[in-house]
Amino acid sequence: MRTLRDAIGQAAKRLHKAKLVYGHGTTDALDEAAFLALEGLGLPLDVTDRKLDKLLTAKQQARIDKLISARITTRKPAAYLVGRAYIQGIPFRIDERVIVPRSFIGELLFSDHVVGPGAAFISEPKTIRRVLDLCTGSGCLAILATLKFPDAKVDAVDLSDDALDLAKLNVTDKKLGRRVKLHQGDLFAPLKGKKYDLIITNPPYVTASSMRRLPPEYRHEPRLALLGGADGMDLVKRILKGASNHLTPGGAMICEIGAGRKTLERAFPTLPFFWLETAHGSDEVFWLTREQLSRSS
Ligand SMILES: C[S@@+](CC[C@H](N)C(=O)[O-])C[C@H]1O[C@@H](n2cnc3c(N)ncnc32)[C@H](O)[C@@H]1O
Repeated sequence: MRTLRDAIGQAAKRLHKAKLVYGHGTTDALDEAAFLALEGLGLPLDVTDRKLDKLLTAKQQARIDKLISARITTRKPAAYLVGRAYIQGIPFRIDERVIVPRSFIGELLFSDHVVGPGAAFISEPKTIRRVLDLCTGSGCLAILATLKFPDAKVDAVDLSDDALDLAKLNVTDKKLGRRVKLHQGDLFAPLKGKKYDLIITNPPYVTASSMRRLPPEYRHEPRLALLGGADGMDLVKRILKGASNHLTPGGAMICEIGAGRKTLERAFPTLPFFWLETAHGSDEVFWLTREQLSRSS
């Protein structure tokens, strides 16, 4: 019999040997093993030392072994195997109808530098009354927005009915049906001229050539959620062209773009993109105001 701590260590060795790719919420074999073991046993991710040193039952050990084997043989991201992912510590239901949440916009919404009293960008969260989450997927960013903007109603759009089915489950789980409205359609099309104080968007932005080189883990995610055309920026460019019509005076947008900064700056040379700092660097998410967008259009 093993303790939970030993079982996680053993599992991490198996994952490490299998040379998997991480990046769907964890960064290495040990993190991934801990996530799968704790989720698999229904334990909190901030499990206490006492729990870690408890002996596992044979059934618990078998559950962990099964999840680790599935991770190695299927190469599915761990979140799909357990049906759950976390962003800013908040759990969301996840399956292969949506990408695994990992947007830097989650981190930015929760950064005191971006949102909150004295923040450089949104210093009075209560003034944000209407938010649009374009390309909502699981609905995770729309839901995070309700937590940061207590007086806001959020519209969330996705082209994929499958994604919206899952987003609906997440919105219902969090009892946010009155605050988050889901819309099916192509970007701004279902919104009929509505205007927002803030647009947040994490659209598909992988280039066609990067799609061909994706590790197996990423191939389990919907292609529609990843592919952004030849240079990755097809949707971002369309969003930039449409955003000012959907922002209130003083409104702004936050958009994640992956590795497309140079492409975008070449395509929109007069737009004064402000690149927000994330844990990953400072060229993957930009901030633009309605005034900046309309001046350049
Ligand atoms: C990168 S995922 C982001 C999901 C979620 N916001 C997140 O951060 O986890 C992009 C989403 O855009 C959706 N999508 C792709 N093309 C779209 C379009 N033309 N209009 C609206 N949504 C679209 C995909 O279905 C997918 O759910």
